Amino acid sequence: MTVSIPASGTLVPAADVVPFIEDRSPRGIAAAVHRMIRAGSLAPGDRLPTVRELAVAINVSPATVSEAWQALGAVGAIQARGRAGTFVRDVAEPTRPTRYLGIGGAPTQDAAMDLSTGTPDPALLPALHEAVERFSAGATAWTSSYLDEPVLPALREHLEASWPFRPQRLTVLDGALDALSRVVDQVVGLGDRVVMESPGFPPLIDMLERAGAEIIAVPMDEQGIVPNDLTGALQAAPVAVFVQPRAQNPTGTSMTRLRSSQLAEVLAGSRAWVIEDDHCGDISIADDVSIGQFLPERCVHIRSYSKSHGP
Ligand SMILES: Cc1ncc(COP(=O)(O)O)c(C=O)c1O
Repeated sequence: MTVSIPASGTLVPAADVVPFIEDRSPRGIAAAVHRMIRAGSLAPGDRLPTVRELAVAINVSPATVSEAWQALGAVGAIQARGRAGTFVRDVAEPTRPTRYLGIGGAPTQDAAMDLSTGTPDPALLPALHEAVERFSAGATAWTSSYLDEPVLPALREHLEASWPFRPQRLTVLDGALDALSRVVDQVVGLGDRVVMESPGFPPLIDMLERAGAEIIAVPMDEQGIVPNDLTGALQAAPVAVFVQPRAQNPTGTSMTRLRSSQLAEVLAGSRAWVIEDDHCGDISIADDVSIGQFLPERCVHIRSYSKSHGP
């Protein structure tokens, strides 16, 4: 998918934007411009004032405006087009993770097969109707209030027995992405540093950038992220370290038991949360390895059943 920007947009003078900016922090500037877009005061295709012009007009450094523009770019509200300038995007377009723009459309001529929008063949998924019927017959007896313990006893028993360490709490959510999003909401704030594997999972990069985080990319070898590089990254005091223990997307690497203990040793000297995205769950044939075996009080282990049971 390409981002459509009408060619006829007008050039917006800095003076038109200034009255709307009450808070001159990057976040305040980004919020003010976003409100103008939502209210229609800035239209798709409009060319925004340059970073320098706006910085002079509101008496902040160019870096401050640049950070605001980056935040607006990360949520898909504007698009920088090099020397041509920075333009308001058509927000009526369906929103998709920024890094997935451009895929999932019609297959290009040189693509043998477009797998980007693929879902599992229903014939290969287990039949769930019996379990769902049992659930709906008995569930209300167990959880009839949002304040009750939300995990059914039989499910809790199964999860605790199959979890790679003894979790302090269990929560059932709407897939790994939902879990990642909730964790990011709780743990990551504007300007926080976070560690991620490199290469990493694009939707998580989008999510972290939207939260205003600074991502420190740590390289991987065939056993997972490299302990020495993690040691270096921890110097920057990240609030969280995101890893995929099994079938890392996109490399396919699974963390070995030895590596999980080495990483735990390195992490013991920091205060970072360890967020594990075991997105393949039980369809992975790799060992069920978790840094939570060593640092259970700081590890959020996410296990997805989307790939084994359907989204
Ligand atoms: C690394 C990674 N995390 C999370 C997800 C999303 O998982 P879910 O469908 O459970 O939201 C995927 C999906 O493929 C993934 O590859």
